[in-house]
Amino acid sequence: MRSGSLKKTIGQKFDEELKFFRGWIDKPRAVGSIVPTSTVTARRMASVINPDSGLPVLELGPGTGVITRAILARGVKPENLWSVEYSADFVEHLKEKLPGVNVIQGDAFNLDDTLPQKGMVFDSVISGVPLLNFPVEQRVRYVEDLLDRLPPGRPIVQLTYGPLSPVPPRRGNYTVEHFDFVVRNIPPTQLWIYRRGARA
Ligand SMILES: C[S@@+](CC[C@H](N)C(=O)[O-])C[C@H]1O[C@@H](n2cnc3c(N)ncnc32)[C@H](O)[C@@H]1O
Repeated sequence: MRSGSLKKTIGQKFDEELKFFRGWIDKPRAVGSIVPTSTVTARRMASVINPDSGLPVLELGPGTGVITRAILARGVKPENLWSVEYSADFVEHLKEKLPGVNVIQGDAFNLDDTLPQKGMVFDSVISGVPLLNFPVEQRVRYVEDLLDRLPPGRPIVQLTYGPLSPVPPRRGNYTVEHFDFVVRNIPPTQLWIYRRGARA
């Protein structure tokens, strides 16, 4: 990489980290972390996507877009990616930096009112919403609602900083699978997968 473009990349990363930190100061419960997810974690989460399925991908809680970029790098076309973010500042940033992605300002817990069409079916869901900051019943409803929007066997991947799955097993029609523990993340993060039916 040439030094001019290296400087630009570092400048952009710093700018995004600062924006993220400001978002955390503004709404610590919703943002849930003081720095964005690492690119290692983002790539690992995006690895569950089948870019050849022909179905769109749903991302929840994109923040400043680290995971969004990893999803695009996985081969998903921008127009096939739907990213739902609560914060107006992050939405504005994403729309500017990642034109073509369907960035929607709205509530990941209320997708019926947030997504533009009823009955949309997705290949998979990539979720960065800090679930531990919400009551456990709400987390179970979240996973059930998302699985209603996926073909049988397709995954939701969720990051979390706690040691256990934020959505407990045997509380509904889904399975819970530990996917990975990524040390190269601040803080180190656990990845969990939820699905309905045999892996597809
Ligand atoms: C832990 S940050 C993750 C951000 C980004 N995906 C990353 O990994 O760096 C959580 C993100 O979820 C967003 N968020 C929190 N609650 C939400 C909700 N109910 N609907 C949509 N986004 C939400 C926050 O604004 C924040 O951008």
